[in-house]
Amino acid sequence: MPSSRATSLIEAFSRAGQRQVFSFFDRLSASAQDRLLSEAAEIDLPELDGLVRALVTGAPGSSPGVDLEGLSPAPYVRLPERGGDAPSWDAARAAGEAAIRAGRVAAFTVAGGQGTRLGFDGPKGTFPVTPVRRKPLFQVFAEKLLAAERRYGCRLHWFIMTSHQNHDASVAFFEEHGHFGLDRSRVHFFRQGRMPAVDYSGRILLESPGSIALSPDGHGGSLRALDRSGALDLMASEGIDTLSYFQVDNPLVRCIDPAFIGWHVSSGSEMSSKMVPKAYPEEKLGHFCIRQGRLVVIEYSDLPMALQRERDASSGALRYEAGSIAIHAIDREFIRRMSRGSGGLPFHRADKKIATVDASGADVRPAAPNGVKFELFVFDALPFARGPVVVETRRSDDFSPVKNADGVDSPATCRADQLRQYGRWLSAAGIPFAADPSGLPEFDLEISPLFGYDEVSFAQSWSLLPQKPPLAPGLVLDSNPS
Ligand code: UD1
Repeated sequence: MPSSRATSLIEAFSRAGQRQVFSFFDRLSASAQDRLLSEAAEIDLPELDGLVRALVTGAPGSSPGVDLEGLSPAPYVRLPERGGDAPSWDAARAAGEAAIRAGRVAAFTVAGGQGTRLGFDGPKGTFPVTPVRRKPLFQVFAEKLLAAERRYGCRLHWFIMTSHQNHDASVAFFEEHGHFGLDRSRVHFFRQGRMPAVDYSGRILLESPGSIALSPDGHGGSLRALDRSGALDLMASEGIDTLSYFQVDNPLVRCIDPAFIGWHVSSGSEMSSKMVPKAYPEEKLGHFCIRQGRLVVIEYSDLPMALQRERDASSGALRYEAGSIAIHAIDREFIRRMSRGSGGLPFHRADKKIATVDASGADVRPAAPNGVKFELFVFDALPFARGPVVVETRRSDDFSPVKNADGVDSPATCRADQLRQYGRWLSAAGIPFAADPSGLPEFDLEISPLFGYDEVSFAQSWSLLPQKPPLAPGLVLDSNPS
């Protein structure tokens, strides 16, 4: 005899034309039935119905195109060495430092990814990334946050968004490693939401007879997950009004960057973003653009290649040069506004090969896309933000993601970029060492953020060392000597 919860869910799904979700219900054990019912209860049927009409059955076979009408490149705040106003940068840095010291800023990492493209089995944050010690991504961020706490004399909270798939493993990893020295009461994990995958007629797909094909709702799901998890209320009670947002795949990121935070708070922006000039037209970055007077990011896959290749006649620079490196500063109450009611972020459609079952319940592993997943992108919040600013940063100090097993944005390129950064710090401190013409030191070394996190802090720690270690392969500078 099905419970009343089961009856009402099955009825709701039947009314929505989704009865197939329960095709095998009677065959399932009681616990499997419970699991399926819980998955079904996660689904917002009216929302899904709207998405199917707008993105699937309304546009069979392809995504509706992105609107490029009246598009122009977005303006941005230039670095001082590229024509920006140095005193304004100094003022921004001071404003950012004041906000950090006052405890208004927390770190936020989206870590829902599973490292599939990387060929790594486990939460991406556990991927060993540093050149010598092979510290995991999570530890790199933790040490940067510890270093910032020491520098600014503040207590930083760190919010980490996981997915259902990697949540338990991520939390266990922090437990095993003593939260990498952070105060565990200020490290907050929460899961992102999930969305069901549908076939091309909009019917929810089952992954197995007792389980719905659910997948993470994209990093844009972080806004509603921050609200739902109580993170925004916690921020409010702690006096935190700004989140420093970054992706788990980028160990070079300055997790807490005073100048960037300063541009954000002093311009009264609700959401600000860092940019780098694209290295080459085909580089897979989103583009900051203006559309109908609003700041938007147009993904690399959505901006026609002809536009990505366009150059400014006088300077020769790419016209759409402002690449998004997925680093943002976001205001707490803006997140609350975006996560509630209608007017939220738009979903994107992704055509995928989705493992499912046939009418008899046997596994189907399609060779071509057989359905659609729905994802939210956090940068889609930008056009809703008041006074958004885009701020340039040095790629070499902020961006070297680990995305692919080989080639661009791989562990090898990221390792080299970390080594080059250490090399720049050695040079700035007047320490001679052997390097190739790109500045890559000819030996492995590793500098923990706890020893130095930029030229100045590195030089300071180095000068305090009672005995300078030889610059030999495997040199590790781990903790601050002061
Ligand atoms: C992303 C951006 C792109 C930007 C580039 C910079 C999108 C669609 N594009 O590209 O504009 O230039 O990064 O590196 O995001 N994540 C979750 N939950 C999800 C999906 C993703 O937490 O449901 C996290 C992942 O852990 C990952 C990050 O978001 O760290 C990026 O997602 P990914 O799909 O890898 O985006 P990219 O194609 O690399």
